[in-house]
Amino acid sequence: MTRTFAVIGDPIDHSLSPNIHNAAFKALNLDCTYIAYKIPKGELKEGIESLRKIKISGFNVTIPHKVEVIKYLDELSEECKIIGASNTVSNENGKFIGYNTDMDGFLEPIKNRNIGISGESVLIIGAGGAARAIIAGFAKQKASKITITNRTLENAQELARFASNLGIKSESITLQETDVSKYKFIINATSVGLKGEQCPIPIKAINANHVVYDIIYMPMNTDLIQQSKKNSATIIYGYEMLLAQAALAFKIWHNLQAPYEAMKKVLLGGF
Ligand code: ATR
Repeated sequence: MTRTFAVIGDPIDHSLSPNIHNAAFKALNLDCTYIAYKIPKGELKEGIESLRKIKISGFNVTIPHKVEVIKYLDELSEECKIIGASNTVSNENGKFIGYNTDMDGFLEPIKNRNIGISGESVLIIGAGGAARAIIAGFAKQKASKITITNRTLENAQELARFASNLGIKSESITLQETDVSKYKFIINATSVGLKGEQCPIPIKAINANHVVYDIIYMPMNTDLIQQSKKNSATIIYGYEMLLAQAALAFKIWHNLQAPYEAMKKVLLGGF
Protein backbone atom coordinates (compact mmCIF):
# COMPACT_ATOMS: atom_id res chain seq x y z
CA MET A 1 0.00 0.00 0.00
CA THR A 2 1.23 3.48 -0.82
CA ARG A 3 2.45 5.30 2.30
CA THR A 4 1.42 8.92 2.57
CA PHE A 5 3.42 11.79 4.06
CA ALA A 6 2.60 15.48 4.35
CA VAL A 7 3.73 18.91 5.40
CA ILE A 8 1.23 20.90 7.43
CA GLY A 9 1.19 24.67 7.88
CA ASP A 10 -0.19 27.93 6.58
CA PRO A 11 0.88 29.33 4.14
CA ILE A 12 1.90 26.06 2.51
CA ASP A 13 1.52 26.59 -1.27
CA HIS A 14 5.14 27.54 -1.76
CA SER A 15 6.62 24.79 0.42
CA LEU A 16 9.40 22.91 -1.36
CA SER A 17 9.17 19.88 0.94
CA PRO A 18 6.82 17.94 -1.39
CA ASN A 19 9.29 18.37 -4.28
CA ILE A 20 12.22 17.28 -2.13
CA HIS A 21 10.57 14.18 -0.64
CA ASN A 22 8.85 13.08 -3.84
CA ALA A 23 12.19 13.32 -5.65
CA ALA A 24 13.68 11.09 -2.97
CA PHE A 25 10.86 8.50 -3.36
CA LYS A 26 11.42 8.45 -7.09
CA ALA A 27 15.19 8.10 -6.75
CA LEU A 28 14.81 5.10 -4.41
CA ASN A 29 11.71 3.70 -6.09
CA LEU A 30 9.63 3.86 -2.89
CA ASP A 31 5.84 3.46 -3.02
CA CYS A 32 5.23 6.69 -1.11
CA THR A 33 3.70 10.09 -1.74
CA TYR A 34 4.14 13.45 0.02
CA ILE A 35 1.53 16.20 -0.08
CA ALA A 36 1.10 19.76 1.22
CA TYR A 37 -1.85 20.07 3.60
CA LYS A 38 -2.98 23.54 4.59
CA ILE A 39 -4.05 23.77 8.22
CA PRO A 40 -4.89 27.33 9.29
CA LYS A 41 -4.03 28.63 12.77
CA GLY A 42 -6.77 27.55 15.20
CA GLU A 43 -7.61 24.37 13.28
CA LEU A 44 -4.66 22.25 14.28
CA LYS A 45 -6.57 19.86 16.55
CA GLU A 46 -9.03 18.89 13.80
CA GLY A 47 -6.20 18.76 11.26
CA ILE A 48 -4.20 16.30 13.35
CA GLU A 49 -7.33 14.16 13.92
CA SER A 50 -7.85 13.88 10.18
CA LEU A 51 -4.22 12.83 9.72
CA ARG A 52 -4.77 10.07 12.30
CA LYS A 53 -7.90 8.95 10.45
CA ILE A 54 -6.12 8.52 7.14
CA LYS A 55 -3.24 6.73 8.94
CA ILE A 56 -0.67 9.19 7.67
CA SER A 57 2.82 7.64 7.89
CA GLY A 58 4.54 10.85 8.90
CA PHE A 59 4.44 14.60 8.47
CA ASN A 60 6.49 17.77 8.69
CA VAL A 61 5.25 20.76 10.61
CA THR A 62 5.89 24.34 9.65
CA ILE A 63 4.72 27.87 10.50
CA PRO A 64 2.58 28.47 12.58
CA HIS A 65 2.25 25.04 14.24
CA LYS A 66 5.73 23.93 15.34
CA VAL A 67 5.14 24.71 19.01
CA GLU A 68 1.42 24.01 19.31
CA VAL A 69 1.63 20.60 17.59
CA ILE A 70 3.39 19.21 20.66
CA LYS A 71 0.06 19.16 22.54
CA TYR A 72 -1.35 16.62 20.10
CA LEU A 73 1.56 14.17 19.98
CA ASP A 74 1.89 10.94 21.97
CA GLU A 75 5.64 11.02 22.62
CA LEU A 76 8.48 13.49 22.12
CA SER A 77 12.18 13.04 21.36
CA GLU A 78 14.73 14.61 23.70
CA GLU A 79 15.42 17.40 21.15
CA CYS A 80 11.73 18.24 20.92
CA LYS A 81 11.52 18.58 24.67
CA ILE A 82 14.57 20.86 24.80
CA ILE A 83 13.52 23.10 21.91
CA GLY A 84 9.82 23.03 22.75
CA ALA A 85 8.87 22.56 19.10
CA SER A 86 8.53 19.74 16.57
CA ASN A 87 9.01 19.86 12.80
CA THR A 88 8.84 16.12 12.10
CA VAL A 89 6.26 13.57 13.27
CA SER A 90 6.38 9.84 12.70
CA ASN A 91 3.40 7.50 12.99
CA GLU A 92 4.81 4.49 14.81
CA ASN A 93 2.08 1.84 15.16
CA GLY A 94 -0.62 4.45 15.61
CA LYS A 95 1.42 6.63 17.97
CA PHE A 96 2.44 10.08 16.80
CA ILE A 97 6.07 10.61 17.87
CA GLY A 98 7.53 14.14 17.63
CA TYR A 99 11.07 14.88 16.49
CA ASN A 100 12.96 18.05 15.71
CA THR A 101 15.37 17.92 12.77
CA ASP A 102 15.81 21.70 12.56
CA MET A 103 18.57 21.77 15.15
CA ASP A 104 20.81 19.10 13.62
CA GLY A 105 19.76 20.20 10.12
CA PHE A 106 21.03 23.67 10.96
CA LEU A 107 24.34 22.35 12.33
CA GLU A 108 25.11 19.98 9.48
CA PRO A 109 26.34 22.51 6.86
CA ILE A 110 28.67 23.99 9.51
CA LYS A 111 30.07 20.52 10.29
CA ASN A 112 30.41 19.73 6.57
CA ARG A 113 32.75 22.68 6.23
CA ASN A 114 34.76 21.56 9.28
CA ILE A 115 34.08 24.83 11.03
CA GLY A 116 34.45 24.52 14.80
CA ILE A 117 31.76 25.96 17.07
CA SER A 118 33.18 25.20 20.50
CA GLY A 119 34.38 28.39 22.23
CA GLU A 120 33.16 30.71 19.43
CA SER A 121 30.87 33.72 19.74
CA VAL A 122 27.52 33.81 17.96
CA LEU A 123 25.14 36.55 16.86
CA ILE A 124 21.59 35.52 16.08
CA ILE A 125 19.32 38.00 14.35
CA GLY A 126 15.74 37.12 15.23
CA ALA A 127 13.92 35.59 18.15
CA GLY A 128 11.16 33.41 16.68
CA GLY A 129 10.68 29.66 16.43
CA ALA A 130 13.62 29.12 14.09
CA ALA A 131 15.96 30.97 16.45
CA ARG A 132 15.11 28.53 19.30
CA ALA A 133 16.33 25.45 17.40
CA ILE A 134 19.46 27.34 16.34
CA ILE A 135 20.23 28.42 19.91
CA ALA A 136 19.79 24.83 21.12
CA GLY A 137 22.24 23.74 18.40
CA PHE A 138 24.92 26.25 19.41
CA ALA A 139 24.41 25.36 23.07
CA LYS A 140 24.85 21.65 22.26
CA GLN A 141 28.09 22.43 20.40
CA LYS A 142 29.36 24.56 23.30
CA ALA A 143 29.65 27.99 21.69
CA SER A 144 31.11 30.49 24.18
CA LYS A 145 28.28 33.00 24.08
CA ILE A 146 25.10 33.74 22.16
CA THR A 147 23.95 37.28 21.50
CA ILE A 148 20.40 37.73 20.29
CA THR A 149 19.42 40.87 18.43
CA ASN A 150 15.81 41.45 17.52
CA ARG A 151 13.29 44.12 16.52
CA THR A 152 11.24 43.40 19.65
CA LEU A 153 13.69 43.37 22.53
CA GLU A 154 11.36 41.42 24.87
CA ASN A 155 11.41 38.45 22.47
CA ALA A 156 15.21 38.56 22.41
CA GLN A 157 15.25 38.67 26.21
CA GLU A 158 13.02 35.62 26.40
CA LEU A 159 15.32 33.68 24.07
CA ALA A 160 18.38 34.81 26.03
CA ARG A 161 16.75 33.23 29.11
CA PHE A 162 16.09 30.09 27.08
CA ALA A 163 19.79 30.00 26.14
CA SER A 164 20.88 30.55 29.76
CA ASN A 165 18.69 27.66 30.84
CA LEU A 166 20.59 25.48 28.37
CA GLY A 167 23.77 26.46 30.18
CA ILE A 168 25.21 28.93 27.66
CA LYS A 169 26.14 32.58 28.30
CA SER A 170 23.76 34.91 26.50
CA GLU A 171 22.63 38.49 26.09
CA SER A 172 19.98 40.41 24.19
CA ILE A 173 20.55 43.68 22.33
CA THR A 174 18.70 45.99 19.96
CA LEU A 175 19.16 45.93 16.18
CA GLN A 176 20.66 49.45 16.25
CA GLU A 177 23.38 48.69 18.79
CA THR A 178 24.52 45.49 17.06
CA ASP A 179 28.23 45.42 16.14
CA VAL A 180 28.93 42.42 13.89
CA SER A 181 32.68 42.65 14.37
CA LYS A 182 32.36 41.05 17.82
CA TYR A 183 31.20 37.63 16.59
CA LYS A 184 32.50 34.69 14.58
CA PHE A 185 29.06 33.44 13.50
CA ILE A 186 26.33 35.75 12.17
CA ILE A 187 23.01 34.03 11.66
CA ASN A 188 19.86 35.48 10.15
CA ALA A 189 16.86 33.76 11.72
CA THR A 190 14.31 36.44 10.81
CA SER A 191 12.04 36.51 7.81
CA VAL A 192 13.75 39.70 6.63
CA GLY A 193 15.18 39.13 3.14
CA LEU A 194 12.37 36.95 1.82
CA LYS A 195 11.08 39.89 -0.17
CA GLY A 196 14.48 41.32 -0.99
CA GLU A 197 14.62 43.67 2.01
CA GLN A 198 17.88 44.89 3.47
CA CYS A 199 19.36 43.14 6.48
CA PRO A 200 18.03 44.89 9.63
CA ILE A 201 21.48 45.39 11.25
CA PRO A 202 24.62 47.25 10.08
CA ILE A 203 26.73 44.69 8.17
CA LYS A 204 29.52 46.78 6.62
CA ALA A 205 32.06 45.38 9.08
CA ILE A 206 31.58 41.76 7.98
CA ASN A 207 34.88 40.34 6.70
CA ALA A 208 36.75 37.13 5.82
CA ASN A 209 36.83 36.02 9.47
CA HIS A 210 33.06 35.73 9.68
CA VAL A 211 30.78 32.79 8.99
CA VAL A 212 27.48 34.17 7.68
CA TYR A 213 24.50 31.83 7.60
CA ASP A 214 21.09 32.97 6.36
CA ILE A 215 18.30 30.49 6.94
CA ILE A 216 16.18 32.13 4.23
CA TYR A 217 16.44 29.89 1.15
CA MET A 218 14.30 31.86 -1.25
CA PRO A 219 15.89 34.01 -2.59
CA MET A 220 19.16 32.12 -2.30
CA ASN A 221 21.22 35.33 -2.36
CA THR A 222 19.64 37.61 0.24
CA ASP A 223 20.98 41.10 0.85
CA LEU A 224 22.95 39.75 3.84
CA ILE A 225 24.51 36.96 1.71
CA GLN A 226 25.34 39.31 -1.17
CA GLN A 227 27.06 41.89 1.04
CA SER A 228 28.91 39.22 3.01
CA LYS A 229 30.14 37.52 -0.15
CA LYS A 230 31.57 40.81 -1.38
CA ASN A 231 33.48 41.06 1.89
CA SER A 232 34.84 37.49 1.56
CA ALA A 233 33.00 35.94 4.53
CA THR A 234 32.35 32.19 4.62
CA ILE A 235 28.78 31.76 3.38
CA ILE A 236 26.23 29.11 4.35
CA TYR A 237 22.98 29.09 2.40
CA GLY A 238 19.49 28.50 3.75
CA TYR A 239 18.84 25.75 1.22
CA GLU A 240 21.57 23.68 2.89
CA MET A 241 19.62 23.67 6.17
CA LEU A 242 16.39 22.91 4.31
CA LEU A 243 17.97 19.88 2.65
CA ALA A 244 19.70 18.67 5.80
CA GLN A 245 16.54 18.78 7.92
CA ALA A 246 14.63 17.00 5.13
CA ALA A 247 17.32 14.29 4.89
CA LEU A 248 17.14 13.76 8.67
CA ALA A 249 13.33 13.49 8.54
CA PHE A 250 13.68 11.01 5.66
CA LYS A 251 16.01 8.87 7.80
CA ILE A 252 13.50 8.88 10.69
CA TRP A 253 10.57 7.83 8.47
CA HIS A 254 12.25 5.30 6.18
CA ASN A 255 15.30 4.26 8.15
CA LEU A 256 17.26 4.76 4.95
CA GLN A 257 20.02 7.15 3.96
CA ALA A 258 18.34 10.01 2.06
CA PRO A 259 19.31 10.37 -1.64
CA TYR A 260 20.83 13.80 -0.99
CA GLU A 261 21.89 14.58 -4.56
CA ALA A 262 18.43 13.83 -6.02
CA MET A 263 16.86 16.03 -3.34
CA LYS A 264 19.34 18.83 -3.96
CA LYS A 265 18.84 18.69 -7.71
CA VAL A 266 15.08 19.14 -7.53
CA LEU A 267 15.43 21.89 -4.92
CA LEU A 268 17.96 23.93 -6.88
CA GLY A 269 15.95 23.37 -10.05
CA GLY A 270 13.02 24.96 -8.23
CA PHE A 271 14.79 28.31 -7.84
P1 ATR B 1 10.03 31.67 12.60
O1 ATR B 1 9.23 30.57 13.21
O2 ATR B 1 10.38 31.46 11.16
O3 ATR B 1 11.24 32.02 13.40
P2 ATR B 1 8.59 33.90 13.71
O4 ATR B 1 8.45 33.13 14.98
O5 ATR B 1 7.39 34.62 13.18
O6 ATR B 1 9.06 32.95 12.54
O7 ATR B 1 9.80 34.92 13.88
C1 ATR B 1 10.10 35.87 12.93
C2 ATR B 1 11.33 36.69 13.35
O8 ATR B 1 11.57 37.68 12.34
C3 ATR B 1 11.14 37.49 14.65
O9 ATR B 1 12.39 37.60 15.28
C4 ATR B 1 10.68 38.86 14.14
O10 ATR B 1 10.93 39.94 15.01
P3 ATR B 1 9.88 40.34 16.19
O11 ATR B 1 10.17 39.41 17.33
O12 ATR B 1 10.16 41.74 16.47
O13 ATR B 1 8.50 40.12 15.60
C5 ATR B 1 11.54 39.00 12.92
N1 ATR B 1 10.99 39.95 11.94
C6 ATR B 1 9.93 39.78 11.12
N2 ATR B 1 9.74 40.86 10.34
C7 ATR B 1 10.71 41.77 10.67
C8 ATR B 1 11.07 43.08 10.20
N3 ATR B 1 10.40 43.69 9.23
N4 ATR B 1 12.14 43.68 10.77
C9 ATR B 1 12.87 43.07 11.74
N5 ATR B 1 12.59 41.83 12.22
C10 ATR B 1 11.53 41.19 11.69
